[in-house]
Amino acid sequence: MRENGGMPDPRLAVVVLAAGQGTRMRSATPKVLHTIAGVPLLGHVLATARALDPAVVVTVVRHERDRVAAAVAELLPESLVVDQDEVPGTGRAVEVALGALPAGFAGEIVVVSGDVPLLDVDTLRELVAAHRGRRAAATLLTAVLEDARGYGRVLRSADGAVDRIVEHADATEDERAVREINSGTYVFQADAVREYLPRVGTANAQGEKYLTDVVAALRSAGRRVEAVPVRESWIVEGVNDRAQLAETARRLNAMIVRGWQLAGVTVLDPATTWIDRAVQLAEDVEILPHTHLQGATVVERGARIGPDTTLVDCEIGEEATVSRTDGTLAVIGPRASVGPFAYLRAGTRLGERGKIGTFVETKNAEIGAGTKVPHLSYVGDTTIGVETNIGAGTITANYDGVNKHRTTIGSHVRSASHTVYVAPVRIGDGAYTGAGTVVRKDVPPGALAITVAPQRNIEGWVEAKRPGTAAAEAAATASREASD
Ligand code: UD1
Ligand code: MG
Repeated sequence: MRENGGMPDPRLAVVVLAAGQGTRMRSATPKVLHTIAGVPLLGHVLATARALDPAVVVTVVRHERDRVAAAVAELLPESLVVDQDEVPGTGRAVEVALGALPAGFAGEIVVVSGDVPLLDVDTLRELVAAHRGRRAAATLLTAVLEDARGYGRVLRSADGAVDRIVEHADATEDERAVREINSGTYVFQADAVREYLPRVGTANAQGEKYLTDVVAALRSAGRRVEAVPVRESWIVEGVNDRAQLAETARRLNAMIVRGWQLAGVTVLDPATTWIDRAVQLAEDVEILPHTHLQGATVVERGARIGPDTTLVDCEIGEEATVSRTDGTLAVIGPRASVGPFAYLRAGTRLGERGKIGTFVETKNAEIGAGTKVPHLSYVGDTTIGVETNIGAGTITANYDGVNKHRTTIGSHVRSASHTVYVAPVRIGDGAYTGAGTVVRKDVPPGALAITVAPQRNIEGWVEAKRPGTAAAEAAATASREASD
């Protein structure tokens, strides 16, 4: 599936840099696999790379090689994966990628970083067009930042031409005052990098082979290097630590929320509403504050979600309401109602107009249309028919200590408060249970099941056994008044 159904551009290759450790993240997870909007940083970059329609995408890996390569295989299977060797640095990463390009490849190489997730394909297209238009050997995407700390600075000569890039770690105080930064996104003529990258050394503060040093090499060979400033600097903000991860996530989320608002979704409080990239929302969906919609969650027209709700991979039907709920892999029917304070676990399916109410936990539970589980219940490994009412405090005891068993409850059942269903057990259509019943045997259709012993009142027990207590005095007063 290619954008515009277009043919890939045979003169274009994209190299995605994803071999670095991401030391500043201080994480067991490789930096490029940290997620924003439910997608790894690398996933955002690979999606953009693919949208450019290049002849080939090459992703360079090394740190946590197997995990990153597996992620690439999942996120963009058509990408080639190339291993960087022990020579560190972005320059070396591009050098090893050159070997994976089609033999005789003579077009442009677009280099992007796996840790710059907000870069969009339009910006890349403009960069390629500028590079081709100016017949440059290299074109850098740059930005002017208020706080340029950590970035490579773009140093220009008096006539304004790009001279070289100096990394923050290698820069003098004067150089650090420069606010124009290298975004880490470039277009190179393949022949230019093939010729000049091997000449770049590692004599710098980090002992790395810097891709950025190819700029000075090209310039001293008299080749043209251009710099194109980005429209807005946040597009090229890199994620190097957790603070930048949060900032980037917030920025992307704001764009996603705004996109849904313009598509007809009411979002009361964008600042506390988090929507993953793959979520789908219909018109007239209403989202109340502190709501997180994650994974492949789908919400149909007119449904109201929140406040204080997290849904992961859930499907919510038309005009359903879900309030103060935590749900994963649940399917909620049209006009159904969930919460407040419900916990929907995997395999929950609630039919049209059904209800999963307050302090109710469900798991592997098929609950039919119009059926209500309104209060304080656990319903697990259970099938319930239509228009059944489950009384407050009902428990399906699905676990015998070793195995899980199923409870099957029919349609139009009236299950009284505090019923315990000891699975496996089947309850026929139209059956009733008495309050406090422990159902251990199947109940035929239309039967009333009761297990509780008849109630016995022992008259005068309190005054006889608890004399002098407040209860005894209250009882004495009540019986005096009754006999008056
Ligand atoms: C790099 C640039 C810097 C620029 C900044 C923009 C260099 C030398 N510096 O610095 O000028 O301002 O990006 O964000 O290029 N990587 C590899 N192999 C390696 C090292 C890194 O593939 O050996 C990958 C990383 O996984 C990452 C990207 O290259 O995706 C950038 O690496 P990083 O260490 O973040 O470079 P910066 O210090 O940010
Ligand atoms: Mg970086």
